[in-house]
Amino acid sequence: MDPHKADLFDEMHACSLADPEVFWGEAAEHITWYKRWSKVLDASNAPFYRWFADGELNTCYNALDRHVEAGRGAQPAIIYDSPVTQTVQTITYADLLDQVAYFAGALHARGVEKGDRVLLYLPMIPQSVVAMLACTRLGAVHSVVFGGFAPHELATRIDDAKPKVIVSASCGIEPNRIVKYKPMLDAAIEQSAHKPDCVIVYQRPQERAPLVEGRDVDWNEAVAMAKPAHCVPVKATDPLYILYTSGTTGQPKGVVRDNGGHAVALRWTMTNVYNVKPGEVYWAASDVGWVVGHSYIVYGPLLTGCTTVLFEGKPVGTPDPGTFWRVIEQHKVATLFTAPTAFRAIKREDPEASHLRNYDLSHFRALFLAGERSDPDTLRWAEDNLKVPVLDHWWQTETGWAIAGNPLGVHLFPIKYGSATRPMPGWDVRVLDSELKEVSRGDIGALCVKLPLPPGSLPTLWNADERFKRSYLQEYPGYYQTGDAGFIDGDGYVHVMARTDDIINVAGHRLSTGAMEEVLSSHRDVAECAVIGVADGLKGQLPLGFLCLKIGITRAHEEIVKEVVQLVRERIGPVADFKRAVVVNRLPKTRSGKILRGTMQKIADGQEYKTPATIDDPDVLPEIRMALRSVGYAKDAEAFKEN
Ligand code: COA
Ligand code: AMP
Repeated sequence: MDPHKADLFDEMHACSLADPEVFWGEAAEHITWYKRWSKVLDASNAPFYRWFADGELNTCYNALDRHVEAGRGAQPAIIYDSPVTQTVQTITYADLLDQVAYFAGALHARGVEKGDRVLLYLPMIPQSVVAMLACTRLGAVHSVVFGGFAPHELATRIDDAKPKVIVSASCGIEPNRIVKYKPMLDAAIEQSAHKPDCVIVYQRPQERAPLVEGRDVDWNEAVAMAKPAHCVPVKATDPLYILYTSGTTGQPKGVVRDNGGHAVALRWTMTNVYNVKPGEVYWAASDVGWVVGHSYIVYGPLLTGCTTVLFEGKPVGTPDPGTFWRVIEQHKVATLFTAPTAFRAIKREDPEASHLRNYDLSHFRALFLAGERSDPDTLRWAEDNLKVPVLDHWWQTETGWAIAGNPLGVHLFPIKYGSATRPMPGWDVRVLDSELKEVSRGDIGALCVKLPLPPGSLPTLWNADERFKRSYLQEYPGYYQTGDAGFIDGDGYVHVMARTDDIINVAGHRLSTGAMEEVLSSHRDVAECAVIGVADGLKGQLPLGFLCLKIGITRAHEEIVKEVVQLVRERIGPVADFKRAVVVNRLPKTRSGKILRGTMQKIADGQEYKTPATIDDPDVLPEIRMALRSVGYAKDAEAFKEN
């Protein structure tokens, strides 16, 4: 460890909090502005802080045009690697700019202007990046919806964002099936109150979707008739995108991202967190439908002039657990970012990492993990086999980039398993107790961030300022409540332990158990229900439902379970991975009627638990244990002390 570099990072962190004008003002020099900002941070309408408020820029210009103007036109911008279609395609910056300009022209021809919303329901194909940047070029606001969501979820987002145009593709490709997007989109538009003026459909060769006359347009035809569009200057504070994420109810939260703060922060992270330079190849193995995909498949790498890898496949099975190594070798990937679950999947199929021996990864420099807690076994396995730093970092859809991480571009701090390392510049992380007091170092509490949040983090929720305040700012006045619990140790390292709400994390995907409960309780035979996340060796957590049936229901329980499983798949989508439920007579509750989900989860996971003092009837817990055992959980329950 170089103490000077560690000190340098500490100085940077201190400066970012004490003098954000200087710190972020300097970072903003890496972005091209049409109009320079006069003040870095505008706190006049706190808690709605605004970064670079009167500055003007265009994010697409910064991601494409300026690189072409600077001579990077022939450099690959995207390497599309799709083992599920056996395709590898390279798109240069000049090509991408051309495609984006024409597609922006096609959107503009359909009435899309600055501030209009465009919903994108697209798989991992280059057209997703083209469509995102085309919106950005026009100053329109994109909202990408992940392909694993069902029509109902899509309809909720259509009604909230009210898009003028929807862009989709005929299908996505999962290793075991073709996912027909268009019928799901049609069903969603049928269900939604808001109707788009137009739907642009990219027809993939694997599946041709029927088009609705008068509403739907073929992507290629729309582009063929279009004139290339120029970049439209927008205010730094104008919205760049809305990305919906799970809240505590079935109504997802529309996280808003601005243009200026986002560009500045992401550009800063590429150098200082990920340690990549313009021209290098950066790969985030995620999906454009998630925040990691927005920040680090699309914007971060392109704002930096890197080559980004767009991977349409899985870590295993497409075709084998050597796929990641093949991509790293073939495309000279310098840095990979993915979720621990991807590595658990590889490790499970190839524990000896024998596939790795077939590839030359000598140019590979670092692996970054996020999206869920990194288990030390997996992290160690990756370190031992890859022989590069394996760096956990902690962030959320809301934050857009890492709250805590190991800033490889400044200094590699010693790695502690189970910790995301240090708060990044701009993040004043505190651990608070229920009385809003800071706890001592090492004690667990609510992980909160003292306001203001840094550039790039959410300024608000779409059309929901009050919900923004209620969800994040109300419980701990003056702080942003992350919803995670954890502690900061004596070395200032942040340890994220668990969510404090009903969010669970399945294969790095964030899901609301509340939303699943809403679906279960809509089944005609279900009187009451609960969903918890149980530990899973591959996916981190998996949802498990408990059903209390209405009096007089005599149908076979297996049948009802099958129906609710299908219902969640239809209403939320396959991404929920809801495959198991058990029927119980009653649920454990407090005397005030609150379901004791935390205790149920501990029983399921075989952890020690105490019977809560507030429980209404302690005899329910053994019943829950029996029910859990019937589906293979709560195996060690006998060892518990119930006191
Ligand atoms: N469109 C339609 N369906 C999708 C989908 C998409 N884009 N993505 C996933 N699904 C489906 C899957 O086919 C699966 O359906 P099934 O129940 O019929 O099998 C279901 O949603 C659950 O998907 P997932 O949890 O991803 O499971 P999986 O078995 O397909 O893959 C992993 C497991 C671990 C290999 C995969 O989740 C992974 O690579 N995750 C790490 C990377 C990542 O995505 N991180 C997210 C944020 S960084
Ligand atoms: P998402 O909004 O989908 O990115 O999910 C954010 C949530 O994932 C966080 O609030 C955490 O609960 C969890 N998470 C993300 N990264 C980490 C990490 N490195 N360690 C522990 N939990 C994480």
